[in-house]
Amino acid sequence: MKGIVLAGGTGSRLFPLTKITNKHLLPIYDKPMIYYPIETLVEAGIKDLLIVTGGRNSGDFLRLLANGKEFGLKHINYTYQEGEGGIAEALALAEHFADNDKICVILGDNIIEGSIKGAAEDFRHQERGAKILLKEVHDAERFGVAEIQGDRIVGIEEKPQRPKSNYAVTGIYLYDETVFDKTRTLKPSARGELEITDVNNAYIREGTMTFDFLDGWWTDAGTFESLLRAANLVYETRHRQGGSAPATAGAAGL
Ligand code: DAU
Repeated sequence: MKGIVLAGGTGSRLFPLTKITNKHLLPIYDKPMIYYPIETLVEAGIKDLLIVTGGRNSGDFLRLLANGKEFGLKHINYTYQEGEGGIAEALALAEHFADNDKICVILGDNIIEGSIKGAAEDFRHQERGAKILLKEVHDAERFGVAEIQGDRIVGIEEKPQRPKSNYAVTGIYLYDETVFDKTRTLKPSARGELEITDVNNAYIREGTMTFDFLDGWWTDAGTFESLLRAANLVYETRHRQGGSAPATAGAAGL
């Protein structure tokens, strides 16, 4: 299975922090944001990686990450998204790299406490389709929200005003090779983007979507509040592991 980190977009919700650098290069406690999703993939045994980025500072990714020696990698692949046409547009750029393999996609601003190793292993054995990871949250209207009936997901709504559940769809997606046929059929949403939620709903309609719940905390880092929360969560976890536990961070998951 190959790994794809999506790190394009303008990060406009973080202006002026993102005026002169890419959002994914901003610090989360003691590391640049992009380190965390890369570490999540590598820890899950996914070592063939593509970074999709864009904008004026894309060259900085190469200077920062090079061939990934810090992560125990020998090589990292890079590609460039022109504009910010949405998560699914950025993903579509990975078709050549994926080369009919299964893929694990992670959004460059998603940071987790735990591991996706188990989910990745389960998906290696899943014959076809996709798998997403859910997390119970207090502010579901900020995310893609899953509607669950019994043990099945029946639909996902992107940032609904009245969420049908508290289960946010995290930015970690496992797909088979048909994902690129699905991205080709997408039309821009009201916000002018190709939505990853539309890709996931295509798998749900096909009856091939499975899901799992993510252990530990999860947060994005695309707003001032979540950027701060991410740093606090990392700090708190690091110090807890080191023996002392400063009570500063509010948890994102329940
Ligand atoms: O964090 C999880 C949420 O991420 C999901 O629950 C939502 O369903 C999903 O749509 C997404 O929501 P956001 O509106 O928070 O996504 P955002 O526009 O902040 O983009 C998240 C990451 O995706 C960003 O850090 C980089 C990548 N991206 C985004 C866009 C718009 C790209 O690579 N290219 C893009 O054009």
